Amino acid sequence: MSAAAPWNIRLAGELIAAEIDAARAFYGDDGEGATALLPILHALQRTFGHLPADALPLIAERLNLSRADVRGVLSFYHDFHDAMPGGCVLKLCRAEACQALGSERVAEHLEVAHGLRPGTGTRELTLQNVYCLGNCALGPAALVDNELHAGFDEQAADALLARLRGAPA
Ligand code: FES
Repeated sequence: MSAAAPWNIRLAGELIAAEIDAARAFYGDDGEGATALLPILHALQRTFGHLPADALPLIAERLNLSRADVRGVLSFYHDFHDAMPGGCVLKLCRAEACQALGSERVAEHLEVAHGLRPGTGTRELTLQNVYCLGNCALGPAALVDNELHAGFDEQAADALLARLRGAPA
């Protein structure tokens, strides 16, 4: 993962304007407002690594949406976050097929053994829930810094944490 740029409101404004222009070019007169919202959120998070609180009113104003509209979209999608993730990002699939293959046991193990709950993290690791990674037959599925892992069980979780902490697995 490339390093995130520090939050910069001028750069954020340029990115928002570029995404609005792209939406207009694609959708014509309909390419404003909500049609540009998701591309803007992706562009800002890709650039800054997260979506800080300052981003919300800026986006709302440029798209002529309410802050509640923007917050609603932000909170619906688990992949957007308002704080920089710490260290490695572990995304554990919690959808049905992975549940049947043990992802709930892995989530419980991460909390009990390592004090990690979804949406929280430590210096070494941030844990996030995701809902289907398209690897359903080989669950529990997980993304570790965007690398797909199959059969991510409690032992795999322990090994990852040990590696991140510099200890033997
Ligand atoms: S349900 Fe987990 S990858 Fe599809």
